Amino acid sequence: MQTRAFLLLALALGSAAAAKGEPGFLLFTRRIRESPQALQPEVESLVRSSFYAAHPTVLSIPRWLGNSSAPEHSAVVAAQLEQRECNVITVDLAETTDETAIAESVSQLIELLSRNFDVPLERILLVGFAEGAHLAGAVAAKVQADLGQRFPHLTALDPTEGSLEHLLSPSDAQFVEVVHTNGGGLGTLERLGHVDYYPNGGGTQPGCVEDSCSHERSFELLAEMWSPENDFVSALCGSLETMSVESCRWTSLKMGQGSQWAPTPGIYFLETRSSQPFARGAYHISFL
Ligand SMILES: *[C@@H]1O[C@H](CO)[C@@H](O)[C@H](O)[C@H]1NC(C)=O
Repeated sequence: MQTRAFLLLALALGSAAAAKGEPGFLLFTRRIRESPQALQPEVESLVRSSFYAAHPTVLSIPRWLGNSSAPEHSAVVAAQLEQRECNVITVDLAETTDETAIAESVSQLIELLSRNFDVPLERILLVGFAEGAHLAGAVAAKVQADLGQRFPHLTALDPTEGSLEHLLSPSDAQFVEVVHTNGGGLGTLERLGHVDYYPNGGGTQPGCVEDSCSHERSFELLAEMWSPENDFVSALCGSLETMSVESCRWTSLKMGQGSQWAPTPGIYFLETRSSQPFARGAYHISFL
């Protein structure tokens, strides 16, 4: 009876956490958008859920201790479901500070999708915000170690300075793209991926006073980054010191759309507006 009472209590609290000390998972699809389902990294749990293996899967890893209500999750869920039928799985880190356990649990879920549901890794996107970017790197590295296959695509949103055991790096996945929006504040300017984007120089974002505003701008850009109307035209720069409209070479790469065609690795600069639509398009045309 006691166990049962506890279960009812846990259900009543609506917590997505699987158990104390472990990450929780919540599944969103277009159909269950308003009533997401708690998942465990187990076959039975997935089979019973609305998870649909033929659709792409996006895994969202939040900031340190981020729970299922973290705004980065809402941004990922909204931007993905707006564009396509897919499975978006958000990771709840409210109950855990064990980096190894987080990487193990999330990679276990991915390996399960690969092994038991025939989901090719190419159909899975890992997105991490702040500390979650480094955790996503740790997950991808673990998947690579276990499956002997490089994880294809990881998107890091304003990663923090490396304070965790695992520091995100290009060796974590075939294509690591990073969006820096509060480098020198809550994030870092350090290059961590194949392609590092520095909107407005990567430090302070237009319309922002607080660091948290610039930091969170990284996921507010997602809706446009993942839209077919993406107009974040980016310029390739020689160094962080020479990032400007004049001294960088404009390219046809749009921020967030480089995974299909292996762009030149490097430092990419662009300017944005202070509110939606953030993209400014080809405003630099005279410099081409
Ligand atoms: C999630 O975390 C935020 C910030 O710590 C907190 O305000 C909120 O109550 C939490 N929500 C849930 C559902 O636990």
